[in-house]
Amino acid sequence: MRILTGIQPSGKLHLGNYFSAIKKMLGYQASEDLYLFLANLHSLTTFKDKDIQWQNTKDAVLDLLALGIDPKKTVFWVQSDVPEVTEITWYLSMAITTSQLSLAHSFKDKTARGITPSAALYNYPILMASDILSFQAQKVPVGKDQKQHLEFARDIAIRFNKEYGEVFTIPEPDIDENTALVPGTDGAKMSKSYGNTINFFDTEKALKKSVMSVISDSAEIDEAKDPDKSVIFAIYSLFLNSEEKVDLANRFRTPGLRYGDVKKEMLEKILEHFAPFREKREELSKQNDYIRDILKEGGLKAKALAQPTLEKIRHALGLSDFF
Ligand code: ADP
Ligand code: TRP
Repeated sequence: MRILTGIQPSGKLHLGNYFSAIKKMLGYQASEDLYLFLANLHSLTTFKDKDIQWQNTKDAVLDLLALGIDPKKTVFWVQSDVPEVTEITWYLSMAITTSQLSLAHSFKDKTARGITPSAALYNYPILMASDILSFQAQKVPVGKDQKQHLEFARDIAIRFNKEYGEVFTIPEPDIDENTALVPGTDGAKMSKSYGNTINFFDTEKALKKSVMSVISDSAEIDEAKDPDKSVIFAIYSLFLNSEEKVDLANRFRTPGLRYGDVKKEMLEKILEHFAPFREKREELSKQNDYIRDILKEGGLKAKALAQPTLEKIRHALGLSDFF
């Protein structure tokens, strides 16, 4: 099965990215046909500075390789290295209306948080559809926040196929209910754009600061606490098996629990979980040439896969084969 996903290099990778998309890709790596890219054209919509943009991209490459993405098993590239996708975006924009785009939750959330409502941000879902459809992906692992974008991609593919002939595979979202929406330190969706993330490769000091800032209610130590309403419980649970989760829920319901103690335990869990990857990352950070070669090769493989789709579209639209 062809499985594809993208991650924006718009800041440090965080637990939301890890549990909903990256961990899944790692699990599929042994048996499936995998495609993973850094959506740096998407992160231009929240662009700050070219040096930061480039640093974020490099950091995300290191993060993903350190976590275990194996370029021999996964085609791994940077979005802007495959301009076929941007050309296809234009063709796909005919298969979606502005009134549909105006319903995008992500556009509304981002502009409500002060991000400039540029045309690029508005058209973001079409570029994302192209990321998926250009490679004829069948399955797309994402968090719940991307569900609507996946629906747009499916609608676009269905409409295009109907109007111009069968060109695209219709992709399926792959959303796991348990990790679909990881809350951030403030209880809202954890997101690089919202400054509420827990970044697993941060220094211990910075990680401690984020973990200790996770929001809690004002329940006193001697009161029982509701695990289902707790952001601390939701994040900590990601690292626990079902038995450990039941134990933690019982500790919440038993008077005497101190949130500060649970946060310290959670910090230890996070550090322990990511310790081996941290070492690997350190090693990789010294191998610039190796990293450059991986991305170059990944970009060429991705291009080779997008080109036949592009040819098919041009043909379907009467843009080629005149002579
Ligand atoms: P961000 O919102 O932090 O910029 P991205 O847009 O790069 O993150 O998302 C990359 C992947 O991580 C997508 O599949 C997205 O659905 C997933 N993801 C991002 N934040 C969360 C979250 N808080 N919970 C679950 N999945 C998330
Ligand atoms: N928009 C996605 C996000 O913010 C990132 C992304 C871009 C993506 N293109 C994609 C995810 C294609 C899956 C498939 O999370």
